[in-house]
Amino acid sequence: MRTPLTSIRGFSQTLLSSWDRIDDENKKKFIRIIEEQSNRLINLVENILTVSKANSGSTVMKKVFVNASIKSIIPMFQEQYKSHKIVFTPQKDLPSARLDEDKFQQIMTNLIDNGGKYSEPGSTVLITTESKGDEIIINVKDEGVGIKKEDADKLFKKFSRIENHLTSKTQGNGLGLYITKQLVESMSGTITYKSEEGKGTTFIVTFPVYNEEEVLKCSQKS
Ligand SMILES: Nc1ncnc2c1ncn2[C@@H]1O[C@H](COP(=O)(O)OP(=O)(O)OP(=O)(O)O)[C@@H](O)[C@H]1O
Ligand SMILES: [Mg+2]
Repeated sequence: MRTPLTSIRGFSQTLLSSWDRIDDENKKKFIRIIEEQSNRLINLVENILTVSKANSGSTVMKKVFVNASIKSIIPMFQEQYKSHKIVFTPQKDLPSARLDEDKFQQIMTNLIDNGGKYSEPGSTVLITTESKGDEIIINVKDEGVGIKKEDADKLFKKFSRIENHLTSKTQGNGLGLYITKQLVESMSGTITYKSEEGKGTTFIVTFPVYNEEEVLKCSQKS
């Protein structure tokens, strides 16, 4: 947490103390770093709050339009991973799902962030949605370093990062996937992945589609 805060403070101090001496291009660059690091910090705080269960009482399950919800967070990643191609290909007329929208966006944020973080600039992170039977399937596919078979056990563990040439260059606490799995399962979803070392990884998340009758039954019971 200290790293993003230190850089936010450092760049703000520099801008304030040397405003007249910095040209417009560098001002923009510094402000962009402040924005990026703030986003990182927000995600980190969200993850820590989830792990400490400090906000566990605030689940609000409602009808969520998955495509619209994903679409609203894509620009943030296009900004953050400017040199990547962050592409969203939604299935038309996707049924809605019964989700807590903040938690759903936290799931997507962790997966898209990993897709950008563990792949080289210039490559594509492709997010797709589709429905099959009474399931909604969301894929986050990258062309990055991939995950070795022997690291499978570490992937969803708390505070565990896997060594690769990009982990040493990037910031992370090894919390994202641990939390993602907890959140997905807390909303009756599943998470799996396919990966090929050096070629890329696809995370696959599924949720049941929104079922009006079942929701009615549940609310009558309670
Ligand atoms: N898409 C991916 N491609 C390759 N490796 C990945 C991918 N996603 C996660 N990993 C590996 O799994 C480890 C755990 O991921 P996780 O998201 O939990 O933590 P992190 O990204 O290191 O930190 P945080 O998400 O807390 O900022 C990462 O350190 C990385 O090595
Ligand atoms: Mg992560």
